[in-house]
Amino acid sequence: AARDNIPSPPGLPFIGNILDIQNEVPIKGLEHVVNLYGPIVKLNILGKERITVASVELVEELCDEKRFWKTPGDGLASLSDKKKGEGNHTGLFTAPSEDDMDWQQAHRTLMPAFGPVAIQGMFGEMHDIASQLVLKWARLGPSYRIPVTADFTRLTLDTIALCAMDFRFNSFYQDEMHPFVKAMNGTLTASSNRLKIGSLVRSMLPWDKTAEKSKADQEYMRVLSCGMVQVRRDNPTNKHDLLNAMVKGRDPKTGELMPDGLISANMVTSLIAGHETTSGLLSFAFLNLLQNPETYFQARKEVERVVGRGKVGIEHMKDLKYIDAVLRETLRLTPTAPAFSRSIRRDNPNDVELLAGGKYAITREDRIICLISTAQRDPKVYGEDANEFKPERMLDENFQKLPKGAWKPFGTGVRACIGRAFAWQEAQMAVALLLQTFDFRLDDPSYEMKIKQTLTLKPDGFYMRATLREGIT
Ligand code: HEM
Repeated sequence: AARDNIPSPPGLPFIGNILDIQNEVPIKGLEHVVNLYGPIVKLNILGKERITVASVELVEELCDEKRFWKTPGDGLASLSDKKKGEGNHTGLFTAPSEDDMDWQQAHRTLMPAFGPVAIQGMFGEMHDIASQLVLKWARLGPSYRIPVTADFTRLTLDTIALCAMDFRFNSFYQDEMHPFVKAMNGTLTASSNRLKIGSLVRSMLPWDKTAEKSKADQEYMRVLSCGMVQVRRDNPTNKHDLLNAMVKGRDPKTGELMPDGLISANMVTSLIAGHETTSGLLSFAFLNLLQNPETYFQARKEVERVVGRGKVGIEHMKDLKYIDAVLRETLRLTPTAPAFSRSIRRDNPNDVELLAGGKYAITREDRIICLISTAQRDPKVYGEDANEFKPERMLDENFQKLPKGAWKPFGTGVRACIGRAFAWQEAQMAVALLLQTFDFRLDDPSYEMKIKQTLTLKPDGFYMRATLREGIT
């Protein structure tokens, strides 16, 4: 009965609630329903029941690793390339569960490669790519309308490719995005459109090519990454990058090497997971700074105090406290990965788990969506101004006092983001370098944030202008 307590908007025969969540931006449709029906809702999506939670309290409860674990959502599951028995492998992100052998081996082998020392060792390469961005904006000058998300995607894609596998996409030297990015966007858009009614209807038409195109895109990415593994095998180096960690690293528990298929699956995973989200973070961060001039001023003052006019270095990162707060607050308001999914663990003997002190119940079959884009605006925790951009609330002393479920943009538990330190260092450095070099302004001062969703979120149609600061040549 406690399961029936979960509010559910009335649906239509067969299709259930699918019309309730229709929105050009799929996640907005879900946010709308949750805002109407409360912090927990049950929706019927084409015959399948889906529960969503959107309060800090409920998210925190579902993050209890003793009772629940990650189960990839429909979007992620559709990206998984694992076909049992065909010798194919799955990457960390899409792995069905943490007791999956592929996940365990890759997790144990890759954890050290994402540790603090390894990430600090990548600072020079991160700086190399960020300097290409600076050069581009400096040369194009103040009359150039900077396509913010596209240029930050060039930055983050080139950075992860260089740091992970010593490969240069050289995106700043081409107008067109690299075919890998096109293939990736095709796959991600297809998987996040799965709940759009237009795409659903289209997919039922015999001449629809979306599924085939998505398969072809995935195959292209697989072949490209297998090629990179082969190039490394043919040309061994001593570089401390992810590729070497995978090609040479032995599983600390079993002593085994990773098979090529598993390496290639994790390469595609790193390239995808390693740049989309960070590029969205940087884009939203600049938009927030420009729309809240006081915060822009504070951030720039911090750069002047900590870095001055010299070269931005690894030693400055630990002192960029206000920029940390800007990035945290940006990920609170617009988490670029806006939701993750949880379900009852296989090794949990209870077939039913109670939530909110027994008020609601969920069963083993349920996969619960934790909608952090709404939970992170919970007025109970963040107050009446929860929708406002106020980095001060994310300064260390305040951040550490937040309840555990209040800020989860990197997911939770053992399946939390493995690349968090990587993303952080890259974003801190880019913000510091850019604020040190340029004066920015909005191209259109009346621009209002519009969101575009592939699998991750980015601001749509956001342009800015950059002028070199005095004394910078
Ligand atoms: C997992 C967010 C950057 C690699 C995750 C998850 C989230 C997330 C929410 C958990 C997803 C779930 O529970 O379903 C972010 C954000 C980033 C970022 C917001 C940037 C601001 C990166 C980078 C890399 C990366 C730079 C790689 C270099 C991964 C991988 C996983 C993951 C491999 C899967 C971990 C596992 O299941 O063991 N990320 N991520 N991410 N992320 Fe990130």
